[in-house]
Amino acid sequence: MKLTEKEQAFLDGKHGLGLKKAMEILVALGKIYGAKEMVPVTSAQIAGVSYKNIGDSGLEFLSDWANQNARVHVPAFMNPAGIDRQLWRQLGFPEAFAQNQLEIIEVLKRMGVRATLTCTPYHIGIVPQKGEHIAWSESSAVSYANSVLGARTNREGGPSALAAAFCGRTPRFGLHLHENRLATHRILVHCQLKSSADFGLLGYLVGKKVGNGVPFFQGIDLPAEETERTACFKAVGAAMAASGAVALYHIEGFTPEAKSYGERIVKPDARVIDIKDLDEASLALNQPGDQIDLVTLGCPHVSLEELKSIAELIGGQRLQKPLWIATSAIVREDARAQGLVDAIEQAGGRVLADTCMVVAPLEEMGIQFIATNSAKAATYLPSHQGAVVRFGTTEQCVKAAINGYF
Ligand code: F3S
Repeated sequence: MKLTEKEQAFLDGKHGLGLKKAMEILVALGKIYGAKEMVPVTSAQIAGVSYKNIGDSGLEFLSDWANQNARVHVPAFMNPAGIDRQLWRQLGFPEAFAQNQLEIIEVLKRMGVRATLTCTPYHIGIVPQKGEHIAWSESSAVSYANSVLGARTNREGGPSALAAAFCGRTPRFGLHLHENRLATHRILVHCQLKSSADFGLLGYLVGKKVGNGVPFFQGIDLPAEETERTACFKAVGAAMAASGAVALYHIEGFTPEAKSYGERIVKPDARVIDIKDLDEASLALNQPGDQIDLVTLGCPHVSLEELKSIAELIGGQRLQKPLWIATSAIVREDARAQGLVDAIEQAGGRVLADTCMVVAPLEEMGIQFIATNSAKAATYLPSHQGAVVRFGTTEQCVKAAINGYF
C-alpha cells in the first residue's frame, strides 16, 4: 500500500502512540481489502457508543486510546448511546448502566468526538455532499449517506471510524471506488408501497436476498412530499442494512447516482429479483398477539417534521401505553421550542434523545412486548432485547399506544 510521508510518519509513531495505533488499523484494513492508497475523509460518524453493545472491554479500549493522546482531526460525531442523558433517571434506566454510559461519552468527548448521539446526523445539519469521502459507521446512516446524499463511505466499524477521524483518512476500497457503486441486482417492484413501514418491509425482503450487494429499484413511486419521501428512504435503507448488509442502493429516477447514470448504474450481469408482495416480510416481523408494554418510534431517529406528524396523529388523545419517540437532542430542543414535546408529554408519550430502542437496556428494564414502525428495529429487537415485536405503520403504532393493545 502506498503511503504518503505524513501517513508513514503516523505509522512510525512520530505523532504519538494514539495515531500510530489508528494508522495500524487503517493499513491493516487496507491490506485485507486490497486498497492501494488512503483517501482523505471530511467527517466520521462513530458507532459502538452504547454500553449495552461495547461493555467494560469497549470502555477500557477507548480509555486506553484517549490516554495515548488520540484526538480527532476531522469532525466526528457519536451514534446513539444506551441512555437519554436528561431523562434516564425519570425513565427508570439502571443507575450502574447509566454511569458506565456517561463515562463512555466523556472518553469520546475527550478525544474530540461531538456528543450528537444520533444515527441521523443529516437531520441536524451534517450533510455530506455528493462525491464527498467520509467514514461513517452506523449502518442506516451509511446507507443514507451513500444512497440518498451520494457521499462515499464503507460501513465502518466503531474503531475504524475513530481511526479515520484521528488520521483524517481511510483506505480507498469498497464504496470509495466508482466500480463498486454499480448495482449488482435489479429489483423489480410490482406491488404498491403505501407507507414508510411498507418501504421497511421491502427493505427487509431485499436485504435478505442481496446480502451486501447494491440493489437498483425499479417500479417504485416515492411520495411527492419531502418529509414522507425522506422517511421512506430511511426505512428501506435501514431495513436492508439490518436483514442484509446493504450499504448503498439506487432508486430509478430518485437517488442521485441513479439519476446521473441512469441505466448505466446497473452492472451488465446484475441478477433480477421480482417483488410481488410484502407478505413474507410482514409475517416474519410481526409476532402474533396484541399485548404491548411499549410503543417505540424513531428507528432511525426522527426528524422534526416526522415528530410533528406524530404529534398530529396523537392529536391530544390520552395514551394507555408508554410511547417513546427517539431522536437527537438538537431535534428535541427544536421540537420543544415549537410546543411539540409538551403536547406529546401531556398525552403520556416521551421524546427520547441520545438513545434508541435497540441500544437502550430495555430487557434489563423488564420491557418485553414492543410495537414499532421500523423494520430494522423489528429485525433486531428479538435478538438484542429478547423482545416480542408487533410491527405496523406509524398510524397503527400510535393507535396501539392510545388503545393499549396492538
Ligand atoms: Fe438508529 Fe438505533 Fe435504529 S441507532 S437506526 S435508532 S437501531
